[in-house]
Amino acid sequence: MQTIEMKMDEAIERVRERICDRPHKYYVMTFGCQQNEADSERAAGLCDAMGYLLAPSAAEADLVLINTCSIRRHAEEKALSYLGTLQTYYRADNERIIGVIGCMAQEPSAVALLKKSFPFVAFTIAPGMLGELPALVLSRITERKRNFCFAPDRPDIVEDIPAVRTSDFRALVSIMYGCNNVCSYCIVPYVRGRERSRRSEDVISECRDLIARGYREITLLGQNVNSYRSDLTFAELLERIAEIEGGFWIRFMTSHPKDVSPELIAVMAAHRDKIVPAFHLPLQSGSNRILSLMNRTYTREHYLSIVDALRAAIPDVAITTDIIVAFPTETEEDFENTLDIVRRVGYDKMFSFIYSPREGTRAATMEGHIPHSIAVSRMDRLLALERASAEHCNDAYVGTRVRVLVENTDDRGRAVGHTATGKLVHIDDATENSIGTFVSCLVERATPHGLFAVL
Ligand code: 5AD
Ligand code: SF4
Repeated sequence: MQTIEMKMDEAIERVRERICDRPHKYYVMTFGCQQNEADSERAAGLCDAMGYLLAPSAAEADLVLINTCSIRRHAEEKALSYLGTLQTYYRADNERIIGVIGCMAQEPSAVALLKKSFPFVAFTIAPGMLGELPALVLSRITERKRNFCFAPDRPDIVEDIPAVRTSDFRALVSIMYGCNNVCSYCIVPYVRGRERSRRSEDVISECRDLIARGYREITLLGQNVNSYRSDLTFAELLERIAEIEGGFWIRFMTSHPKDVSPELIAVMAAHRDKIVPAFHLPLQSGSNRILSLMNRTYTREHYLSIVDALRAAIPDVAITTDIIVAFPTETEEDFENTLDIVRRVGYDKMFSFIYSPREGTRAATMEGHIPHSIAVSRMDRLLALERASAEHCNDAYVGTRVRVLVENTDDRGRAVGHTATGKLVHIDDATENSIGTFVSCLVERATPHGLFAVL
């Protein structure tokens, strides 16, 4: 297909020429994780380069992109139902271009469904292939073609895709793409391909540039940042970024427990002015039998030893986690083991999910599916514990002073932001003017969901 092989810059220019008769607008709807948010910023960057202006809503856009997630069935259903609502806009004006990007675009069954049941979808573009966007938009404009662009196992990293960032003080920076782990429940390696790390000099220069432009928070992203490999390890990369001068915070996610190194913990402890004392350490299950079925390659004992090492080096570290409830064959005893770890660690925040079978993964073919009623009741028990744990962690902040990066205002006009440890703080006497700055405030009250403070 000739158009698809066209160079990105050439396609951008040709779209610009085709849409210069009147202002054209774009809109990007994002589902899923921060990786998808980062990809949406690049998609917006390409739309901007093609000459599209940002529309306030999909209804007003000539080009609508839906960035999809496949992690659980519910995530896919949300995207499909949103897509359904776009049909009316398309009926009203079939010159509109509606495209699907993100993880569902690499899933054969999802693409087959889009092809058949959503004929107004002009194209799909798999993760890693975003550089094809201008060519596919052009192909739609000039030939009214539908294209379905899948990615090879290890797509090249394209460095020169511009980004339109949604914030001018918090930035997402992908350091790697894809994943080499084969957790038996997880679709990510299938939709995002094998692991590829960006060159360290590209990552460092992007961070340097953001900090020079006044960014206050940089979040380094990857499916498993601890297995980042270039000329530097992740710990070394983190250290190099922390050494850049300026007043900023660095966050990172996500970490696989098997790859958390003593060097990483040491770098975090040594640079705690810049690297936030917060660690997202997905547990998934507290049962060694289930961990083995999940192919997580660590044991509960090893996991707890990492938590101990983190707390020894960084006493105020906030630890957060992901847990899957009702994995195939999970017994009451397995689940009790999970609750036991939750009690021992005392997580600051947990993200809990009921297991959702994903076609193509190993777990989807396992026997021992857990009935939904049991899954829901286990989930309720976990949520109760989660609430108590978060409340306990947050209570410890009452009466202390914290530094907050103000991000927004809440519905009462109070400033809201996060602490370095990731706590949501509402600040009574701070206003809109403080957005994008660090403020110091005194915590007066806590709930499981956040803190209430005064300047
Ligand atoms: N079902 C339920 N939860 C899942 N996760 C990943 N795959 C599945 C699945 N098939 C959860 C894991 C992961 C988080 C991002 O989503 O807990 O850490
Ligand atoms: Fe969802 Fe995973 Fe894709 Fe992120 S990488 S959008 S969590 S499937």
